[in-house]
Amino acid sequence: MARKFECVMVTGGAGFIGSNFIRYLLGREDFAGKVVNYDVLTYAGNPLSLADVAERFGERYVFVKGDICDAETVRRTIQEHGVDCIVHFAAESHVDRSIVAPDAFIRTNILGTYVLLEAAKALGVRHFHHVSTDEVFGSLGAEGFFTEETPYAPNSPYSASKAASDHLVRAYNKTFGLQTTHSNCSNNYGPYHFPEKLIPLMILNALEGKPLPVYGNGMNIRDWLYVEDHCSAIWTIVQEAAYGSSYNVGGRNELTNIAVVTKICELLDQKVAPLPDGQPRTSLITYVKDRPGHDLRYAIDCSKLERDLGWKPAQTWETGFEATVDWYLAHPEWVEQVRSGAYKEWIATNYEARA
Ligand code: NAD
Ligand code: DAU
Repeated sequence: MARKFECVMVTGGAGFIGSNFIRYLLGREDFAGKVVNYDVLTYAGNPLSLADVAERFGERYVFVKGDICDAETVRRTIQEHGVDCIVHFAAESHVDRSIVAPDAFIRTNILGTYVLLEAAKALGVRHFHHVSTDEVFGSLGAEGFFTEETPYAPNSPYSASKAASDHLVRAYNKTFGLQTTHSNCSNNYGPYHFPEKLIPLMILNALEGKPLPVYGNGMNIRDWLYVEDHCSAIWTIVQEAAYGSSYNVGGRNELTNIAVVTKICELLDQKVAPLPDGQPRTSLITYVKDRPGHDLRYAIDCSKLERDLGWKPAQTWETGFEATVDWYLAHPEWVEQVRSGAYKEWIATNYEARA
């Protein structure tokens, strides 16, 4: 029997995946409860991503501006709203930033997860789901896949901090009997993706005729999953998975970075006016200095999730990429809003200096 909840607290709900998850959850017929979006609104958090949700769902959607490291506000929020399930997305999520300034990653991803676990334990929250990444498993060579049994081998400060948080979640289940589940997912893409990550950055730069910075030789491989498919996987796990279990989530969509960038250029060449010089958008591709410790290949074996819980993704990368390009073309006001924030400063000092 699927679990039922009255009030789900989504941490990091103003970010990319969290905002998609809130929209997905409130739109489901099998969820009649309330969602509390608990987010401190870092540069990556954008309340505009949920403007339609606030309007459509009224009192079933509540926003609380709070830091997951602030134990008092976390506890007060859980008590005030009668939270019986936490789905924990809040994190510092960008690998490049973790190389330049790891401190926020250690604080939010490790300490913040600990604060949430302590609060969930103390206040008897029924279910704690932790959203994690395939990057905790390190890098694959040409062959093989990450399974739930793959040993952890994180290579960046970001993935090391996420690995630590995964271990804390496991420990709170084993030691204290907290009812936890957790998932490790591959690269997501789709609407509301902050434009410092590969796919939205390339769409927007290619639209504007700016250089497309590809790290190293562009042959690194990522396993792409449409964000709503990640949301459906998380909700399936929250409802059905055994406590203490973990699931890998992925779409079997392995692509080199250069293939991704080329596909985006081709889609834009078809959908919008050509560049002023008449060249295809692939002419904007610029190879730049590689990311230090750049993982070569990620590839997820998600057969446990398919077999145990019957989950399947709805999108292929072909349908998902096109839907994503169309979404960015249709939402210039969202792009303008996120770009007017702290992000501008970061891009100037990091990407522009690098290219
Ligand atoms: P994101 O950077 O877009 O959003 C993170 C959100 O967390 C933002 O709204 C931010 O304001 C909030 N936040 C940051 N620090 C906080 C704090 N101290 N207190 C409260 N809120 C805080 O991230 P995303 O890409 O949506 O990723 C969400 C989660 O999914 C992360 O845990 C990430 O590790 C994991 N994940 C991401 C991907 C991916 O491809 N993006 C894949 C697998 C797993
Ligand atoms: O695998 C899951 C992870 O995917 C998540 O845990 C992270 O939160 C998420 O940010 C993502 O990490 P990546 O480092 O894989 O994503 P990013 O979009 O930064 O980079 C994807 C690939 O593209 C990677 O091989 C680096 C490369 N890249 C990235 C950028 C931003 C470029 O070549 N040029 C760029 O400008």
